[in-house]
Amino acid sequence: MSKQVTILAIESSCDDTSAAVLRDGRVLSNCIANQEVHRQYGGVVPEVASRAHQVNIVPVVEQALRQAGVKKSELSAVAFTRGPGLMGALLVGTSFAKALALSWEIPLIEVNHLQAHILAHFIEEPKPNFPFLCLTVSGGHTQLVLVRAAHDMEVLGQTLDDAAGEAFDKAGKLLGLDYPAGPLIDRWAQSGQPRFVFPETNVPGLDFSFSGLKTAILYFLRERLAADPQFIEKNRADLCASVQHAIVSALLKTLQRAARHSGIREIALAGGVSANSELRHRFEQLGQLEGWRTYVPALQYCTDNAAMVAMAAYFKYLRGDFCAQDVAPYTRGFHLCD
Ligand code: KG4
Ligand code: ZN
Repeated sequence: MSKQVTILAIESSCDDTSAAVLRDGRVLSNCIANQEVHRQYGGVVPEVASRAHQVNIVPVVEQALRQAGVKKSELSAVAFTRGPGLMGALLVGTSFAKALALSWEIPLIEVNHLQAHILAHFIEEPKPNFPFLCLTVSGGHTQLVLVRAAHDMEVLGQTLDDAAGEAFDKAGKLLGLDYPAGPLIDRWAQSGQPRFVFPETNVPGLDFSFSGLKTAILYFLRERLAADPQFIEKNRADLCASVQHAIVSALLKTLQRAARHSGIREIALAGGVSANSELRHRFEQLGQLEGWRTYVPALQYCTDNAAMVAMAAYFKYLRGDFCAQDVAPYTRGFHLCD
């Protein structure tokens, strides 16, 4: 029998510290420490995030190994998110992973965070067949990606301004909701109707734009609040349903265009915003209409987690794609394959 491949992965690109252990493509543990501290600031404060990663990283890694029942001598490699993300946050995970690889004398694997979101689809069945189209929607990114293979991806379109998650979070802030507002808008929208219509931003090709929507909501609320200061309180559910409807419609319109244009019918969603219930529901409906095979990861693998980093690293391990100790993190990076 060939030797088992056991990977410890660390994710620290934004405000979640996560560690996971994967054995031969199967998740043995996936531990996450969320940083509640940012809620009071209405967004992620990079300096505060880096410090919280420093506090959380040792306990989270210990917990992941303990839960997996794996000893360090059984590990085949250590993986980490190299970017894109916040520099200070990335440095914590990168340095920690390097130190572990060096002291345990095992290979080091660097992972692109956006690729990891996409490869989260290979954690559980059903897994997409190559080539597939993936709409990656998170707090920092909105991309339409053609995935030819685990190591061969091409960005077909992306946001020209705000990311989809950012649009949810900024609209939620205008509606008086805490950060991150995406899940709260989702919850409020369930008891509302999308009866407020915001003008659509027409973006040619396969790109996205959400800053116009944010401005439209701002002006709309200003006008209504001038007439009735209680307007938001009285209409919060309908306002959330309307914002959510507008964002989901914009995403699906471009996804449909890409699918028709490419002729590809294996279509996937990835990233934190793919946890959104309206997006998941309307994506499935559209898929049935268009004859797509649709793929959405389980909720825990949509938002940031180290299991997806471990899965991306597993593909790299199988190809012998390791990195040196001198690699530096990058904050931006649409180059999905380097
Ligand atoms: O992928 P992710 O966990 O982190 C980044 O890489 O950015 O995505 C976080 C984003 C946040 O903007 C959050 O508001 C959004 O995903 N989000 C949601 C939902 N759950 C998370 N947006 C809408 N509906 C949700 N249910
Ligand atoms: Zn992410």
